[in-house]
Amino acid sequence: MIVIEGLTKKFGSNIAVNNLHLQIGKGELFGLLGPNGAGKTTTINVLSTYLSADAGNVTISGFPLPREANKVKRIIGVVPQELSLYNELSAAENLYFWGKLYGMKTADIRHRTNELLTEIDLFNRKDEPIKKFSGGMRRRLNIAVGLIHKPEVLFFDEPTVGVDPQSRNFIFGMIEKLHQEGKTIIYTSHYMEEVERLCTRIGIIDYGKLIAQGTKLELAKLLSFSEWLEIKISDNHPSDFKIPAGAVKTQNILRFDGTEFKEKLGEILDSLIRSGVKIEDVSFKKTNLEEVFLHLTGREFRDNQESK
Ligand SMILES: Nc1ncnc2c1ncn2[C@@H]1O[C@H](COP(=O)(O)OP(=O)(O)OP(=O)(O)O)[C@@H](O)[C@H]1O
Ligand SMILES: [Mg+2]
Repeated sequence: MIVIEGLTKKFGSNIAVNNLHLQIGKGELFGLLGPNGAGKTTTINVLSTYLSADAGNVTISGFPLPREANKVKRIIGVVPQELSLYNELSAAENLYFWGKLYGMKTADIRHRTNELLTEIDLFNRKDEPIKKFSGGMRRRLNIAVGLIHKPEVLFFDEPTVGVDPQSRNFIFGMIEKLHQEGKTIIYTSHYMEEVERLCTRIGIIDYGKLIAQGTKLELAKLLSFSEWLEIKISDNHPSDFKIPAGAVKTQNILRFDGTEFKEKLGEILDSLIRSGVKIEDVSFKKTNLEEVFLHLTGREFRDNQESK
């Protein structure tokens, strides 16, 4: 459905997307996950025909870009990271504007506008200038704009940025529904939890490169362990106590990778207590995408974002 081969896009000497290969099947809800500046929006902009690539091939529904850009435009819906709305216009007028850009008939736009405004719970506010809207309301309208022409393929570029948890759940519900209807969707985010929750398959991108892809389970298998035990010991533990076999100590956390420690938990705790260590907390943890990212890059996902 969507085939990306060797996609490269540079801005001067900055390589925003670096030899990206991806295949997304019909009906998939694919998550493109990466920290700030990873190249997510640049990728989406090429797929959306807004930017031309420096190298590589992109085909959407059999139509190669940029040659068949006009055909591609008709089947894709884009929900951009930067809102594509006019603040002076009302919700209905914004949808009308975009419907006309897609060459829709006035009657069709009106019908679709009512349908979409009802769906995004803004029907009662349809004639108000949207500058009076909250961030979450604008985000919802931004999504409706992307759906006006009933596209088969959808690109959502960080659609939940700056919205409250309630609007976020609302947006998730809409995307899940579109997925159930069989749409092919690419969803970008820098929130691990979002793609873990929503997406059937995930690609992790960093500095313009795809560093891993697969289902959540497949990504977890990239790690030699998927579960581990953490024991937090008190700060004033005897400095000469023996770190139990198999453990790695970081500050006052002892970490045991793997599942075999489960049977040995009693034994481990006993021996720690006997050596004069006070236990503050014991927890079992499971792999998440953060761990996969850390494993592949050696950097914390969040640190990486903050440093940019
Ligand atoms: N129009 C542009 N001109 C110059 N550099 C750009 C332009 N657009 C993006 N870049 C650079 O390309 C790289 C990738 O940016 P991009 O916006 O694709 O990242 P992103 O993954 O969408 O990040 P974010 O999560 O912050 O939205 C960054 O280094 C960015 O500074
Ligand atoms: Mg972006």
